[in-house]
Amino acid sequence: MVEGPCGWDLLTFVLDEGRTACVLHRDGQWLSFDRSCPHAGIDLLGGDLEDLSELGAGVVVACPAHTYLFDPVVGTCLWDASRGLPETPPLQTYEVTESCGNIRVRPRPLPARPSRDEWDQARADQLQLAAVDKALERKFPD
Ligand code: FES
Repeated sequence: MVEGPCGWDLLTFVLDEGRTACVLHRDGQWLSFDRSCPHAGIDLLGGDLEDLSELGAGVVVACPAHTYLFDPVVGTCLWDASRGLPETPPLQTYEVTESCGNIRVRPRPLPARPSRDEWDQARADQLQLAAVDKALERKFPD
């Protein structure tokens, strides 16, 4: 593995159909997802991985282009610029298993999009602002 974004160790791989994906590891946690942002295809590895556990969200991925947020475990779009239910498709993620130094990935089913009743725009905005704040604090500590 090589040094990846935000202190995560990184492996990248190419799927049969040519899509590129990544495996990230830090502190015993594994994540794996397609590198191409579902919004407009920007490489998510240029973005940020922020731990929002204090907000009950765990780690989120923020795209470097328009800071849309994704759950890197199940793939749900957590925030986009729609100002309502996200119009952005979910991110393809992979289940990771590691045994004796071998890493295996298996695609997870894409999550259902949230319903209008489930969607909480204030919560989505809170997560997006927290992710941006954390990225700024990390990049500009003073
Ligand atoms: S390309 Fe990723 S948020 Fe727009």
